[in-house]
Amino acid sequence: MELDRGAAIVTGAAGGIGTCVARRLASAGMSVVMADLDGARLAQVSEELAAEHPEAELVAVRGDVGDPEHHVELVEAARCLDGGLRLSVLNAGVSVPGLSWEVPLETWELTTRVNYWGVVHGLRAALDEFADPSAGRTGWVVAVASGAGLVATPGLAPYVATKHAVVGMMEATHHELARVGSPSGVSVVCPGNIATPMPSRNESIPGASAYPEVLESIEAAVVSGVEAGADPSTVADAIVEGVAEERFWLMPQPEIAWAAGDRVRRIGEGEPPVDLLG
Ligand SMILES: NC(=O)c1ccc[n+]([C@@H]2O[C@H](COP(=O)([O-])OP(=O)(O)OC[C@H]3O[C@@H](n4cnc5c(N)ncnc54)[C@H](O)[C@@H]3O)[C@@H](O)[C@H]2O)c1
Repeated sequence: MELDRGAAIVTGAAGGIGTCVARRLASAGMSVVMADLDGARLAQVSEELAAEHPEAELVAVRGDVGDPEHHVELVEAARCLDGGLRLSVLNAGVSVPGLSWEVPLETWELTTRVNYWGVVHGLRAALDEFADPSAGRTGWVVAVASGAGLVATPGLAPYVATKHAVVGMMEATHHELARVGSPSGVSVVCPGNIATPMPSRNESIPGASAYPEVLESIEAAVVSGVEAGADPSTVADAIVEGVAEERFWLMPQPEIAWAAGDRVRRIGEGEPPVDLLG
């Protein structure tokens, strides 16, 4: 499905990958409904994009992806734009470090609300618009999962759990759309390290660990990995090129597919999992 007309929703559009995806879609000729919880950053980013792409229709909507009503509002905003909703990129996400038994329940709940329910609500709202084969509308949903949806890294159990859930839900939905004969589809993108401000946005709780040195070394590895990560445009390119070819798996970095393959091999051969942070 070519992404050169109609409207797209991008959640988490005021952040690294989301902003880059919104910019790429606007330059390809789509109207974009840009959504984020951070209204001030969203206003600034959407003004910058409007100046760069005066020909594109851009709408900024502040809201929380954990709220199903927010997604209804986003779909309604896209419906009002030329060509209607054709693409939804469910990208908003949070990641808070900690050991699984030490991170407060609030962290598990926040991560689940944003990374898991944010995708459930967005998927339901978009597919309600274009899943039905008799509706005469075609569209695509892309969930931004992570390499952490295919292999587990230490120090991020809530993040890893929600990203695995997103991969599974999108794969099941892919099969369901095929079974009902829908012309619409879904993809999941599993980036490795991407250089964005994400780690700096989500502070850990100081002094909350009985193993501060272990946690510090994990956090240092995560931060240095992200700082040395690929440019967010790698993810935007993978989405635009992958959806054009109607592919399910969008893998911007080949090493993630390799690590996932090695995990499956280890499962088959009964070998223990590998700690990818070394
Ligand atoms: N940066 C990486 O290395 C990396 C790797 C793999 C996957 N990802 C995924 O990519 C996506 C984007 O991450 P990023 O690196 O650009 O981070 P980012 O922090 O720059 O962007 C995330 C955006 O989501 C927004 N957000 C947070 N909670 C929200 C909520 N409740 N409702 C609406 N918006 C909310 C934030 O305000 C922020 O603008 C995330 O889902 C993340 O898990 C990132």
